[in-house]
Amino acid sequence: MRQARTTDVAEIRGLIDQNTGSRRLLEKHTVNLYEDILEFTVAEASADGAVVGCGALHVMWEDLAELRTVAVDERRRGAGIGHLIVDELLDRARAVGVRRVFVLTFAVEFFARHGFREINGTPVSPEVYAELLRSYDDGVAEFLDLDRVKPNTLGNTRMLLRLLAGGNSLRGRLRPWGRPSAPRQAGRRFPAAG
Ligand SMILES: CC(C)(COP(=O)(O)OP(=O)(O)OC[C@H]1O[C@@H](n2cnc3c(N)ncnc32)[C@H](O)[C@@H]1OP(=O)(O)O)[C@@H](O)C(=O)NCCC(=O)NCCS
Repeated sequence: MRQARTTDVAEIRGLIDQNTGSRRLLEKHTVNLYEDILEFTVAEASADGAVVGCGALHVMWEDLAELRTVAVDERRRGAGIGHLIVDELLDRARAVGVRRVFVLTFAVEFFARHGFREINGTPVSPEVYAELLRSYDDGVAEFLDLDRVKPNTLGNTRMLLRLLAGGNSLRGRLRPWGRPSAPRQAGRRFPAAG
């Protein structure tokens, strides 16, 4: 896992394009990927350095962020890469002081493994809601459930995770997918596709 670089944008573009036809991910212009590159983390294959997964953390307010654009190469799914990406992004959220993380997704069971729970509505005060309305970001509009983005969000589930103050105990408790809970797997690399 590592911070994304500008040279990764073409591969991130490819991962997004695998999922926009099915509407699992929101369409993104390439210029926005460059603009948002600091939000992205990527998983890199050890053999050839290929980007095999990506994900981003978009901070929306003092205690609130969104996980977005979490995608793993179709040929690499089911190997734990997606969970590592989410772990990394949640660590980032803790590091910047975020306490609640939102995701809008079809992958409900996958995110439930990390403690995300389904929610209805938009869990912010009317004052914060009014401030968020000033954003031009489509993801924020989806969080607000605005009419103009409803066609994008059809069939998705709104989920929220409350991060524990202590941090890593959450990941340890909710690690039912069989990997050891002790080692942080940041820095781990993955074999190239066969
Ligand atoms: C959701 C997604 C990121 C998961 O990535 P992944 O690398 O397959 O995730 P993991 O391997 O860490 O975990 C997948 C789970 O499915 C299980 N699984 C088994 N075989 C699988 C397969 N062939 N494909 C996918 N998952 C499989 C895994 O064991 C794991 O189960 P667990 O949650 O009980 O541990 C990936 O499916 C994807 O890119 N989906 C399209 C984009 C999307 O919906 N993103 C989320 C919205 S932001």
